Amino acid sequence: MQLLVNIDHVATLRNARGEGYPDPVEASTVCEDAGAAGIVFHLRSDRRHIRDEDVYRLKKSVKGILDFEMAATDEMIRICREIEPELCTLVPEGREELTTEGGLNMKHVYDDFANRVFPAFEGTGIEMSLFLDPNPHDIELAHKLGTDTIELHTGTFANAPDAESRKKELERLQKGAELIYQAGMKVNAGHGLNLDNLPVLAREVPYLEDISIGHALVSKALFWGLERTVKEYLKIMNAR
Ligand code: PXP
Repeated sequence: MQLLVNIDHVATLRNARGEGYPDPVEASTVCEDAGAAGIVFHLRSDRRHIRDEDVYRLKKSVKGILDFEMAATDEMIRICREIEPELCTLVPEGREELTTEGGLNMKHVYDDFANRVFPAFEGTGIEMSLFLDPNPHDIELAHKLGTDTIELHTGTFANAPDAESRKKELERLQKGAELIYQAGMKVNAGHGLNLDNLPVLAREVPYLEDISIGHALVSKALFWGLERTVKEYLKIMNAR
C-alpha cells in the first residue's frame, strides 16, 4: 500500500486570495520528500482549484507517480495525453458538487468509454483507473472495458452515520477488492480517508495499492504546522 497525496486543496487556499501561495507544486515536493509515493490532482472543467499551469509544473516537478484525476471530456483527454502521467483516474464530475460524490455508473458510460475514451489512450502507456463504488456490476463492466486499475470509492464508508452501516460498507469494499484482484486488476482506493478511518480500511480491505488522500491530510497539516508558524512570527515581534 502506498500513499498518493491529493494537493487540490492547497490550490483552493491559494485561489481564495488570488496570490501565488500556497503553491501546490511546493506542497507536492514536501509530500514526496516525506515519503509519499506520488501526487494526485484533479483538473476540473471549472478550474476551481488546480489550474492548467499547475499541471505542467507538477509534471516537471513530481518524481514519483503522478495521478491525473479527471472527467472523461475531450479537453481533459487532450491535456492528459500531452502530460503523460503514470496514472489517469477517470471520475464523474458534476458542476454543482463540492467534491466527487461517488463512483462512475459503468452502465451509463460504458459505450462512450469503449468507443471514444479508452481508444484515445491506446498505446500511451498511461495506467488507466476507474473510480467506482464497490459494486460487482460496475466492476465487471470495468473489467470488460479493459481498465488496468479500479479506485474504490471509500467515501460512503468514511461518512457512514453509524457502526452498522460502516461495517456493511466495509464488507462491500472487501468483496469489491477481492473481485478486482481476482479479475487481475489493481486495487486503489480513496475519498474521505483520514487518520481515524484509515487504520480500519488498511487492516480489513485486502489488495490495496495506491491510496489517494487529500482534504483530511491537508487540513491536518494546517494544525500540525500552526504552532511552529505562530512561534516564528512571535520571534520577529519579540526581537524588536
Ligand atoms: N479519489 C478520488 C477519485 C477523488 O475524487 C478524491 C477527491 O478529489 C479523492 C480520492 C481524495 O478525497 P479526499 O480529498 O476526501 O481525501
